[in-house]
Amino acid sequence: MRVLGIETSCDETGLAVFDTEKGLLAQVLHSQMADHAPYGGVVPEMAARDHLRRIPHLYEQLLAQLPARAGLPIDAVAYTAGPGLVGALWIGAGFARGLSKAYQVPALGIHHLEGHILAPMLDQNIDVTFPFTCLLVSGGHSQWLSVSELGCYETLGGTLDDAVGEAFDKVAVMLGMGYPGGPAVEQAALQGKPGAFDLPRPLLHRPDCDMSFSGLKTAVRYALEKCDLTPQVKADMALAFQDAVIDVLLKKAERAIAHTGHTTLLVAGGVAASQALRQALRAWGQTHSVNIIFPDMSVCTDNGAMIALAGAKRLQHEQAHDSVVQVRARWPLSELRAPGASNT
Ligand code: KG4
Ligand code: ZN
Repeated sequence: MRVLGIETSCDETGLAVFDTEKGLLAQVLHSQMADHAPYGGVVPEMAARDHLRRIPHLYEQLLAQLPARAGLPIDAVAYTAGPGLVGALWIGAGFARGLSKAYQVPALGIHHLEGHILAPMLDQNIDVTFPFTCLLVSGGHSQWLSVSELGCYETLGGTLDDAVGEAFDKVAVMLGMGYPGGPAVEQAALQGKPGAFDLPRPLLHRPDCDMSFSGLKTAVRYALEKCDLTPQVKADMALAFQDAVIDVLLKKAERAIAHTGHTTLLVAGGVAASQALRQALRAWGQTHSVNIIFPDMSVCTDNGAMIALAGAKRLQHEQAHDSVVQVRARWPLSELRAPGASNT
């Protein structure tokens, strides 16, 4: 089974071809990060226009990567149908509709977060078996999930306000580091002195998996108002903030695993690119006998490969129909069903 995947939910245009026998056959990606950086966040209208401008060229590059058109024919075109920026999503959906007509195969609407959750499976050396507990941490979402099988995602808890990646991005702006903040904060934290700032760990002692990061962000703002923003202060604050976030995530990992009884914790989404988080969770996993799985660094942030993979996984288990393409800005993961299960 072979699926062409298209991702356009935010500021990355990604296309890929995934084969259930041979793995990832080709992948192309363009990030608009630099275009949005001056605005401190993604500008939706700009994102949609750039997807539209780039997608035909990226498609040609994708085909060029497939030796002698070995990647074709395909069995379906999978596109991100949500959640995300509506204008941006429509570009991918429209392109998918065109390709599905050209190849005479179905167009499959994929949930962006299901793509992130399955992304570690793109690495053929990693064995991911259901069930597992999932920490999904991206720029727009932060959730703890119990995943019993493909399409069955039970929410254990989530953020009450800012997503983890969003908090990194906002703190980075306060530190004059620009967008996206996560990698910049992590880089600065390497030079930080431990203990220079004492920040709160919100909801740490609440006996559930809910999280809150907006109070932490405000604590950063108040602490910075009292200092000169020297490079050392920036580094110290970056480390203090990163440590506070990681402490909260470790505590909630304990809660989530105690609740599910699973022996695997899979971490997905853009924040899973954090080396500091990887190290802390791996050390925690060793002492708690929990197998910790991260996606390969190349597929942590948004990409077409995870959408192609999610499409292929679904197509392996259910008959795809040639339905009308649609997109949804908001789409709770809990609304998904296992392939083949009725949606009512
Ligand atoms: O999954 P993703 O690419 O896009 C969304 O679907 O939101 O995640 C992007 C988020 C951004 O907020 C970015 O700051 C964060 O992931 N991120 C990181 C790191 N690398 C990316 N956060 C913390 N540390 C990192 N190294
Ligand atoms: Zn994402």
